Amino acid sequence: FSYPLPVNEPVLSYAPGSPEKLRLKKVLAELKKKEADVPMYIGGRAVRTGNRIALNPPHERNHVLGYYHEGEEKHVRQAIDAALKAKESWAAMSWETRANIFLRAADLIATKYRPYMNGTTMLGQSKNIFQAEIDAACELIDFLKFNVHFLSEIYKQQPISSPGMHNRMEWRPLEGFVLAITPFNFTAIGGNLPTSAAMCGNTVVWKPAHTQIYSAQMFMRILQEAGLPDGVINLIYVDGPTLGEVCFNHPDFAGVHFTGSTGVFNTMWSTIGANISKYRSYPRIVGETGGKDFVIAHRSADPDVVATALARGAFEFQGQKCSAASRAYIPSNIADAVKKKLVEQIQSMKMGSVEDFTNFVNAVIDERSYDKLKKYIDNAKKDRKAKILVGGTCDKRKGFFIEPTVIETRDPKYVTMCEELFGPVLTIYVYDANQFEKALNLVDTTSPYALTGSIIAQDRAAVELATNVLRNSAGNFYINDKPTGAVVGQQPFGGARGSGTNDKAGSMINLYRWLSARTIKETF
Ligand code: NAD
Ligand code: ALA
Repeated sequence: FSYPLPVNEPVLSYAPGSPEKLRLKKVLAELKKKEADVPMYIGGRAVRTGNRIALNPPHERNHVLGYYHEGEEKHVRQAIDAALKAKESWAAMSWETRANIFLRAADLIATKYRPYMNGTTMLGQSKNIFQAEIDAACELIDFLKFNVHFLSEIYKQQPISSPGMHNRMEWRPLEGFVLAITPFNFTAIGGNLPTSAAMCGNTVVWKPAHTQIYSAQMFMRILQEAGLPDGVINLIYVDGPTLGEVCFNHPDFAGVHFTGSTGVFNTMWSTIGANISKYRSYPRIVGETGGKDFVIAHRSADPDVVATALARGAFEFQGQKCSAASRAYIPSNIADAVKKKLVEQIQSMKMGSVEDFTNFVNAVIDERSYDKLKKYIDNAKKDRKAKILVGGTCDKRKGFFIEPTVIETRDPKYVTMCEELFGPVLTIYVYDANQFEKALNLVDTTSPYALTGSIIAQDRAAVELATNVLRNSAGNFYINDKPTGAVVGQQPFGGARGSGTNDKAGSMINLYRWLSARTIKETF
């Protein structure tokens, strides 16, 4: 059964007076008024532990959106048991029935729950409407629809047969349960990690970041309404170490689909390695991790293009995209023009609550992140190697607000050129415009990551040189654009080196990781 290549979900405009804007405003008011009581979902049952933790909008820290029920070790065990119990019937279900559950979920988001997916993402993660729409509506719908298409293409792949025999490939799910651990910054990634594995016939334990729970539970309810059988995906809220202690010691642990920081992924990988003899099969370890994404401009670049790529690439969603530009290499011949235009663009960005649709910048995710970012900014203010070009003000009285900040440094190895900060802070280094190749080498060697990056140049030879020298510096490489905004089906997404296993989310490469093929030869 074939599922044709879908088209990407159109991005709605939310223009003043548009029906989508009016509906969304109503839903935002409804979500703000009622206090949600958010259970875990284990074996299809809503589980309330009574250990209620408040959910607050990062931009309005004293408002309570509701409470989630935190689980403990026994809930991890229950979730694994539920996943294992659901496995046989789910894996045996026809592919069309399985696929249609996910297509129905995509349809429900597009037609019925779009303002709820956007609303919970806007309030829970402090994303403005455009950033929520491209994530919680479009990218999530795209992941569901494109993965169904890609998987149906994989299922069609069969070996050749010869006279006297027939060969076939049975595309089985993995044996055991899959663990999905998701980050706060993309609701769509939260949805993709459990569903891509489940689509392949696996059953899943899903643990989102606590700051993503508000939108994650909304998606879980949509999956249930779409007909997802009990126990196929089990959504639990526990701390990381408790989760790891149970899952990574379990003989039926079949693999982990992770997106988050490099440090957490490294710890998990070590634990899995230490326990390797306990498992029935070698677990699949798939991780999309940190980044220190770059923009390098060539002397032939148009300063306007560079400034816009930096303003949007570094500051949309407060620089909390894994793909966000956070280090820039600007040639001396256009440096003054780029800096002037960049500062102008930043000064025109309004900052505040997501409920005012004219705000471009909202709050960073939580106090921990705020404190970490403020420390880097305060240090830069004191350091002779750095100066603040624009921004630098932090204020957490109402919410976790950090002004879009540009640090300029004379040291290409300055700390904010190398480390992942994950916030609205961009560092720029001006290089000698005649030393382009040297600057390319700096880009390649300055950070341990390789997620996204851009070259901006009008000179074709410079583009060619950068594309070659930076071959291993980014899993997603952009020419004359910002390094963010990969679209499912158009720019398969993922990085290498310290940025992950590069199993390209929303592509066949990723789906293969959740399948374990059996080759069957029958002799006539
Ligand atoms: P994080 O690493 O703090 O958390 C990610 C998830 O891991 C959360 O669910 C968290 O609760 C869980 N976790 C934490 N400690 C754990 C442990 N010991 N065992 C098991 N699970 C544990 O990351 P975050 O702050 O939510 O997200 C930001 C990070 O994610 C950034 O580093 C960013 O670059 C990265 N990211 C990467 C991509 C990509 O595609 N490469 C995409 C999005 C985010
Ligand atoms: N799609 C997201 C981006 O590229 C991850 O920014």
